[in-house]
Amino acid sequence: MTTTSSLLELRGITKRFGQLVADDHVDLQVTEGEIHALVGENGAGKTTLMNMVFGLVHPDEGEILLRGAPVTIRSPLAAARHGIGMVHQHFKLVPSLSAAENIFLGREPGSGPMLHGPQAIRQAAELAERYGLTIDPAARVRFLSVGQQQRVEILKALSYDAQLLILDEPTAVLTPQETEELIQVVHELRTRGKTVIFITHKLNEVRAVADRFSVMRDGKRIATVETGEATEADIARMMVGREVLFRVTKPDVVPGRTLLEVTGLSGLRVDGTEAVRNVSLGVCAGEIVGVAGVEGNGQSELAEFICGLRPPTAGRIAIDGREVTRANVVEHRRAGLAFVAEDRMDRGVSGAMSVSENLAGTHYSDPGIAPHGIVSPGRLRRWARGLIRRFDIRNATPATPVQALSGGNIQKVVLARELSTEPKVLLAAQPSRGLDVGATESVHRTLIEQRSQGRAILLISSELSEVLSLSDRILVMYGGRVVHETPASAATDEGLGLYMMGLRSDEAGEAA
Ligand SMILES: Nc1ncnc2c1ncn2[C@@H]1O[C@H](COP(=O)(O)OP(=O)(O)OP(=O)(O)O)[C@@H](O)[C@H]1O
Ligand SMILES: [Mg+2]
Repeated sequence: MTTTSSLLELRGITKRFGQLVADDHVDLQVTEGEIHALVGENGAGKTTLMNMVFGLVHPDEGEILLRGAPVTIRSPLAAARHGIGMVHQHFKLVPSLSAAENIFLGREPGSGPMLHGPQAIRQAAELAERYGLTIDPAARVRFLSVGQQQRVEILKALSYDAQLLILDEPTAVLTPQETEELIQVVHELRTRGKTVIFITHKLNEVRAVADRFSVMRDGKRIATVETGEATEADIARMMVGREVLFRVTKPDVVPGRTLLEVTGLSGLRVDGTEAVRNVSLGVCAGEIVGVAGVEGNGQSELAEFICGLRPPTAGRIAIDGREVTRANVVEHRRAGLAFVAEDRMDRGVSGAMSVSENLAGTHYSDPGIAPHGIVSPGRLRRWARGLIRRFDIRNATPATPVQALSGGNIQKVVLARELSTEPKVLLAAQPSRGLDVGATESVHRTLIEQRSQGRAILLISSELSEVLSLSDRILVMYGGRVVHETPASAATDEGLGLYMMGLRSDEAGEAA
């Protein structure tokens, strides 16, 4: 039944990849002018479904209707002509060009203005003004923050006069402030009559941004609900098909000796500015120390120094008494460190290689896989199957190439690899990024188990609730320094927030 207000309608849309049914006879109606959230577990078929609307993937069965008329969308350019724009989680901008040039890049005659130089900058500024999306149109994309790059992507889509904008996990890489700004932008777009489909794993965002939401499970759309009629717990239950416990229980553990010791550490960002200033911290066996902070305050760089990805300029890092300050990644691992890197999509996996090869990455000398030092393919497969089960990596076999997995399931491959070693120190940076609520719950449980087994865990997260519920002690970073330290039992959201925003500091003479 097509009503006049239906902008997009999917009827029986099905997509198979070999044996796997990624989307299974999906019916979906998106009303003109609404913000429609799309939620569901990792691998449920959200990205694939939207890639079909954007012409990147072609359905095996089913129909797509725009304003009631059936259409075939052969390519993203065709989608643009139909007024559909999409912002992917991994941006596709050219870093050496200006924001304005990126916005108007790659036009075919007739699909919008082809612009260069000052004219492009003027037009981009007008476009940005019209939608209240502040950017510097002349700035090279390479120098823009992630949030600004995302605005460029959105403006690029709007420059084609998109009526329907699809945003695939747009907030996964944003700071809380940038997220709030994006939500405002999306509301502003709705005011201007645009329709937005918003994929997210964050339940509070569903409630903050969407008019309605649809839930995908195992390739099927199982529900579409008015946002006002569901609590966060309801949404979580619909996504995973069971109750989700948002609280973790931590057994009492008596902390042992200090396994990670950082003293007076300072170091630079890639652009040469100072990122970390005189940071000292220690993490004991059986302890989780959480580092809270608004992204961009030195936490990412601190993690890179501790992993040996980049050398600091001053200070000392020791793992179980062994100094590794300027050692490389391999030596850090040898000293007993495992790490879940923040940018694991780029750094953590090799997409063309199989799940088992990626899982084995740091385990090749493990006697369970390589008896007598030689890898046994049979053992490797069995071991990989065990991890796939334990970490619930969906639709994967040991032989599946990692690039055929959904975004969240790729994250799980890295987590499985790092959390299945027996390190002394575990550094977990943004461990639940990109994961659905069920997977987040199980990662939290794994971290608590690791703590019980006597690992020293340094947890770096921009999700304050995650830091609060898992940590024994909490440090707050602001402007590259540790400005506050507290037992987690004495910490509150609001209290930490003041330090995170730089409104309070325990360092002498540092208070703003
Ligand atoms: N090119 C491909 N080849 C083979 N399988 C694929 C391909 N693209 C996606 N899949 C499979 O289709 C399923 C759905 O993937 P999709 O990326 O749509 O999930 P998603 O809901 O976006 O998950 P996430 O929340 O993790 O991003 C996954 O199980 C994935 O393994
Ligand atoms: Mg996805």
